[in-house]
Amino acid sequence: MCGIVAYIGHREACPIIIKGLRRLEYRGYDSAGVALLNGQLTVYKKKGKVADLEAFIGEQDTHAHIGMGHTRWATHGEPNDVNAHPHYSTSERIAIIHNGIIENYAALKQHLQQQGHVFHSDTDTEVFVNLIEEIQKQNHCTLEEAVRLALHEVVGAYAIVVLSKDNPGQLIAARKGSPLVIGVGEGEFFLASDATPIIEYTNEVVYVNDYELAVIKDGQLEIRSREDVVQTPYIQTLELELDRIEKGGYEHFMLKEIFEQPRSILDSMRGRLELEAGHLNMGGVRAYERKFVNADRILIVACGTSWHAGLVAEYLLEDLARIPVEVEYASEFRYRNPVITERDIVIAISQSGETADTLAAIELAKSRGATIFGICNVVGSSIARATDAGAYTHAGPEIGVASTKAFTAQVTVLTLLAMIVGHKRGTLTDTRLRELMVELDNIPSKVEKALQLNDQIEQISETFKDATNFLYLGRGYNFPVALEGALKLKEISYIHAEGYPAAEMKHGPIALIDENMPVVVIATKDSSYEKVVSNIQEVKARKGRIIAVVTEGDDVIPAMAEFTIEVPATSEVLMPLVSVVPLQLLSYHIAVLRGCNVDQPRNLAKSVTVE
Ligand code: F6R
Repeated sequence: MCGIVAYIGHREACPIIIKGLRRLEYRGYDSAGVALLNGQLTVYKKKGKVADLEAFIGEQDTHAHIGMGHTRWATHGEPNDVNAHPHYSTSERIAIIHNGIIENYAALKQHLQQQGHVFHSDTDTEVFVNLIEEIQKQNHCTLEEAVRLALHEVVGAYAIVVLSKDNPGQLIAARKGSPLVIGVGEGEFFLASDATPIIEYTNEVVYVNDYELAVIKDGQLEIRSREDVVQTPYIQTLELELDRIEKGGYEHFMLKEIFEQPRSILDSMRGRLELEAGHLNMGGVRAYERKFVNADRILIVACGTSWHAGLVAEYLLEDLARIPVEVEYASEFRYRNPVITERDIVIAISQSGETADTLAAIELAKSRGATIFGICNVVGSSIARATDAGAYTHAGPEIGVASTKAFTAQVTVLTLLAMIVGHKRGTLTDTRLRELMVELDNIPSKVEKALQLNDQIEQISETFKDATNFLYLGRGYNFPVALEGALKLKEISYIHAEGYPAAEMKHGPIALIDENMPVVVIATKDSSYEKVVSNIQEVKARKGRIIAVVTEGDDVIPAMAEFTIEVPATSEVLMPLVSVVPLQLLSYHIAVLRGCNVDQPRNLAKSVTVE
């Protein structure tokens, strides 16, 4: 939610910032802006995408070695030029960019107005910058001190960067709850919401922690706590390759990421599934093995697609490890008064590692003594750092807003986890473990095969591109896949879609079925196959238009369905990794045919750092 980027050093700041904003555009794309410090403090901002901002800046003189930029996902105030960041203070001597939400902004604003501050926008951010200005005026202190004191006054989440006309050569940043990374180059520094705008310049980075303030001046970075204690920055070396964050010849990031799945699934198993040696290894699990083995219960907290991966894990962990599992929407869990004990393990799943609700659920579970295991994609993210132990999914950067390869990587890691724990608990025999290991090892090539369905699915999409509703049905392991298929379709094509357990259909949704209703049924050969066939009959009897995802060689369902998509056979427990692929492709092609912006669907953002 909102991307921030800043630069200070010997290069031209503006091109670096604009390029960085393009990389961060997945975080928000309703308006964008830059502030440049070069004797003057100049702000350019515009409603629309980064490209609109670039056109707006045009040929104007942007020469500066210090600057910052922002791409917005609106929270307070509609997307327009005025609400776009950066925001000036009343004197126009200080400017700020901000990712997050200031919850007590209304009270602060009222107070500041009484002190004579003038507001132009509807944003909470403009309050923040005026607060800094007011504190500096009242205390006759340095800008750095004023920012630090302001952090004590604001309630909410923020990653901010502040520039001041009176402090040329200085850049101040701070964070609480929203991500902030500093790239450390030779006499230059790059700040951003994630490492993608940074890695083409340096792979040495510092992740700023909550309640820390970073001050960069005279070629030096200093980090202090909100209490003004100097902290030693921990410089990490990132292993992120540039080509993994570019489109690489694909029309959209989403398509690239769908097609990357054979590799990303392999990467998520690398070093963990050692078939020849007959070993499964997960460092994060090893340290907590006893806890897992003795757990009374596993609670899974996540949102959106990650929640769907959690549902698959519920089947896996109950099936293979015989541990009771509950899967919770993080946003509901955190506001209930959930019963949690020290013998519970909470698994938090998040691609971005920044989802505010998931983070808050972790804090709640931690405060009640549970052990927290994180499954994140983004290395060094807030959730990865807030958990006791965990496993990265290693899917590589996911830029398309609709999650695809992150889902299959999450499911792979959760499968490995369930296998390890099941084997340790003695609920998964050596023979069964071995069979699953062999089959899991084959999954990348089966996904590769499923991707060959792309042309067929594009054709099917032509038939349904103008549909206004879709129903997705599945049972058992394929039920979460039905939910995921429906979510993918609605978020990028804006077609209303619902996922349902196939058997639940007769308890309500069946009333929706007529000759206009496309019904996607995931009906692969598994223990509920016969039942799903009956459900297909029920849809057909009501003239629903059936698109069936079946196992290769199925000779029953093609006679009933209008379209049949054949995926390679695999073990029932691994099927979500394969059966989700045609659904990702279906939503992709329908969205493209409808002329939708696939990578940046309206109203969405990749990383939801507000609750
Ligand atoms: C769907 C999607 C969202 C995210 C959700 C959680 O395609 O991308 O539903 O899955 O916002 O995000 P993470 O996994 O980053 O916590």
